[in-house]
Amino acid sequence: MWDNMLVSLVLGLVIGYIAWVLKWKVNKGEKGLPYRLPPGSMGYPIVGETFHFFKPNNSFGVPPFIHERKQRYGSVFKTSIVGRTVVVCTEAEDNNFIFQQEGRLFRSWYPESFTQVFGEQNVGSLHGYMYKYLRNMVLTLVGPEPLKQNFLPQIHQNILSETAHWNHSVLDIKEASASIIFDFTAKKLISYDPSTDGGLRRNFEAFIQGLISFPLDIPGTAYHRCLKGRSRAMDKLKKMLAKRRENPHLENADFFDHLISELNKQGTLLTEDIALDLIFVLLFASFETTSLAVTLALKFVTENPKALKELQEEHEAILARKEDKESELTWTEYKSMRFTSNVINETIRLANIVPGMFRKAMKDVQIGGYSIPAGWTVMVCPTAMHLDPFVFPDPVSFNPWRWQDAEDSNSIIAKHYSPFGGGIRFCVGTDFTKLYLSVFLHCLVTRYTWKAVKGGEILRTPGLSFPNGYHVHFHSKPGHPNLS
Ligand SMILES: *[C@@H]1O[C@H](CO)[C@@H](O)[C@H](O)[C@H]1NC(C)=O
Ligand SMILES: *[C@@H]1O[C@H](CO)[C@@H](O)[C@H](O)[C@H]1NC(C)=O
Ligand SMILES: *[C@@H]1O[C@H](CO)[C@@H](O)[C@H](O)[C@H]1NC(C)=O
Repeated sequence: MWDNMLVSLVLGLVIGYIAWVLKWKVNKGEKGLPYRLPPGSMGYPIVGETFHFFKPNNSFGVPPFIHERKQRYGSVFKTSIVGRTVVVCTEAEDNNFIFQQEGRLFRSWYPESFTQVFGEQNVGSLHGYMYKYLRNMVLTLVGPEPLKQNFLPQIHQNILSETAHWNHSVLDIKEASASIIFDFTAKKLISYDPSTDGGLRRNFEAFIQGLISFPLDIPGTAYHRCLKGRSRAMDKLKKMLAKRRENPHLENADFFDHLISELNKQGTLLTEDIALDLIFVLLFASFETTSLAVTLALKFVTENPKALKELQEEHEAILARKEDKESELTWTEYKSMRFTSNVINETIRLANIVPGMFRKAMKDVQIGGYSIPAGWTVMVCPTAMHLDPFVFPDPVSFNPWRWQDAEDSNSIIAKHYSPFGGGIRFCVGTDFTKLYLSVFLHCLVTRYTWKAVKGGEILRTPGLSFPNGYHVHFHSKPGHPNLS
């Protein structure tokens, strides 16, 4: 019976594939003109070019998958990944257009594998009113005002005390920063206390590799571990939410309490599932992307002594200007960190943590002279923009000074820089990540000198990871400020 089912399944898929190829070969556009579909290869039936796409690589360059096809077909091409036709856009102008058309010609879209991991109701899959509603809720937490009023002093205190005893120790900075950030955000979001209930973070581990990896759910694959982690973490969160609904915090309300009060409102839009998916995404996004950015920034400045020296000078100067050396960083001081901001822009340009962002065409649309039929998936590929040698000469080298004259939002660099997506979906966590990274660098360079001792190699599958971590040996600077 299984054999029969398998045969009919394969037959069905093959027939479906042929019908689908024929459909696009003969289909006509709206005004009776033939579609001019983007060029590109659909690879093998069903698997398409999936294996090429997921092939691991350890360089900071444009992923070979994109690079080779761009050379062959031009800046817009089609391919087939995990059974789905995807049009890849690599040109800044097209990408910015797609971002700006969010909700009109395009809407954000995630692969099924993504929705399985983040839940049907995750923020990325919601649109229109519901999306705005959740976005506003998140902004009350990490918007500009709370960042200024609450986060800056709290992050500073937290990093100072967490890094106070790093003298003479060797740490994997990826692991150490992930743990510090996770504990901090989990405390803010759900009053999580790692000492009484350890192990929540473990469920998020190896997550980014699994998330942007081949979505094959069988034991042993990164994707399988990722799903397992998700279900354990969701179980924990669900129990915590249930407990909290019985015993709300009256004082020191956290994001859980905020969600619960929304859940209890008459005619609320929020459901428990949406709330849990939201907490899950926020926990994951904050610590994983931020700890990767911290590790990359540290790696880049460690490997570039001139940049490290300039960074140290900037932060020593901030300390030197303070009357009370032990006082907290102020918003004005944060805003004065110009070189740090260049270092961060350059780190994020090179990091390209995600290979692409997906959108779905809502109508037939023209991009770069080609037709994209309604319903097709488009992958916006910031990597190709960020590593464009005409905009960023010597694109894979770390050069924070290239940002010095780039502040003008009309500059060519600004037009080619959209690491967090653009338009209304501009990542809500951007300011948090930048703030966190700046404060982290401030604390490290004013307190410590260090040497890299092991690791630091990156791997893209195509999600970015540090397979061997990044191990660093720290030494206290004499007379460093000690607030802890
Ligand atoms: C990784 O990509 C670079 C180009 O970006 C290429 O030269 C190199 O051969 C690739 N390595 C592997 C292992 O595919
Ligand atoms: C840091 O550790 C080294 C070696 O243990 C020690 O000699 C030095 O005094 C320590 N510095 C500070 C500021 O504690
Ligand atoms: C860094 O990039 C942001 C855009 O994300 C821009 O607003 C800022 O001006 C850039 N910083 C510098 C120093 O160019």
